[in-house]
Amino acid sequence: MTPRGRGQRRGDHKTSIDGLLASREIVVACGPGGVGKTTTAAAAATMAAARLGGKVLVLTVDPARRLANALGLEGIGNTERRVPDEAFAEAGVRPRGELWAAMLDTKESWDALVRLHAPDARTRDEILANPLYRNISGRFVQSHDYIAMERLFEIHADGKYDLIVVDTPPTRNALDFLDAPERMADFFSSRLLRWLIVPYRSRLVNMASKPFYQIADRILGTQFLEDIAQFFILFQSMYAGFVDRARAVHRLMADQRTSFVVVSTLEAVPLREAEFFAQALTDRRLHLGAIILNKVLPSYLRDPRGTAVAERLRDDAEELAGALMGVLEAADVRQVTRVLAEVGQSYLDYRVVAQREEEQQSTLATVPEALVSVPYFETDVYDLSGLLRLGHQLWES
Ligand SMILES: Nc1ncnc2c1ncn2[C@@H]1O[C@H](COP(=O)(O)OP(=O)(O)OP(=O)(O)O)[C@@H](O)[C@H]1O
Ligand SMILES: [Mg+2]
Repeated sequence: MTPRGRGQRRGDHKTSIDGLLASREIVVACGPGGVGKTTTAAAAATMAAARLGGKVLVLTVDPARRLANALGLEGIGNTERRVPDEAFAEAGVRPRGELWAAMLDTKESWDALVRLHAPDARTRDEILANPLYRNISGRFVQSHDYIAMERLFEIHADGKYDLIVVDTPPTRNALDFLDAPERMADFFSSRLLRWLIVPYRSRLVNMASKPFYQIADRILGTQFLEDIAQFFILFQSMYAGFVDRARAVHRLMADQRTSFVVVSTLEAVPLREAEFFAQALTDRRLHLGAIILNKVLPSYLRDPRGTAVAERLRDDAEELAGALMGVLEAADVRQVTRVLAEVGQSYLDYRVVAQREEEQQSTLATVPEALVSVPYFETDVYDLSGLLRLGHQLWES
């Protein structure tokens, strides 16, 4: 392990993002859909590698193509890749440590899990070839949640990295992600599962006599039912391994080496969801390290002096246009009037949003150890320079 510096304490909050990243081995970025989880996770990891040193891995889920490209992840599956120092050099930075990146490939991760838990080679091959398994592992949305945790567990157990920053998939319900390991364990010990496989396993029951199977058979076809049964019977053989593993994953999430960061924007709906999530973390005794408010409008928009200028632009546009004609070398005073009035009005509109954002922020009931704001950048964040720029904001706010 490479020793890294600890961050300073600032403001009312007990720590800062750099302090958090320096003191933890796993940081999980979670929160509502589309708020910037992937971008923030990548930016935090990039800054940690650049400033704190050590080996830092960002484990991403479904990054935008250009971002994947910048991290050297395009077209590869689960393999971890090092972001070359030249990429940092292009962004004008000499990193103290190493930045690694990997993408979560659900299908590949499930296969690896089956290989690990299957009792023998034959069962393993049968599961991997089972059509239902192939469907579920490739497409089953819920399986994303569990497999993200699972893969993290595996990488962490390897001990190759000083810090792993984890991006999380957009879950339909934020809690799904937290409860995934428990649910996986429950599923494997469920009565439903046993009930499903018993008739197939014993072969004593005449299936055709059971109305449920008769109907299911007509609708789905015998082959499909057999696939299902075979799938569950095979999976049953991995029960103990899966349950133990799911519990271990859960323990790692609750361990003090792990911390969660909730990312949100200051829009009403995502913010409520984020807060609900923060509360759920606390209820589950998981560590809430920080709340990151992303895409926040700049505070200067709320400065009354700016407002006064914008109001003058809007209200006295004609008079001001007259004064500016010479400076602008413009020919049509009406055109200049329109532009000035529009600029003034737009500014005032943004001010309203900025004010609303501030009000939203003041309603935040949760007090995390660190509360950080990141401004809305004019362009998407898709390369190392952009990540470092966003990262600076994480460090400095
Ligand atoms: N501070 C910012 N300023 C401007 N654009 C941003 C900022 N943060 C993120 N973005 C952009 O917003 C878009 C969504 O970001 P991102 O993919 O990180 O969100 P996400 O929370 O991971 O989404 P999903 O829930 O779908 O996984 C991206 O195009 C990204 O470049
Ligand atoms: Mg994402």
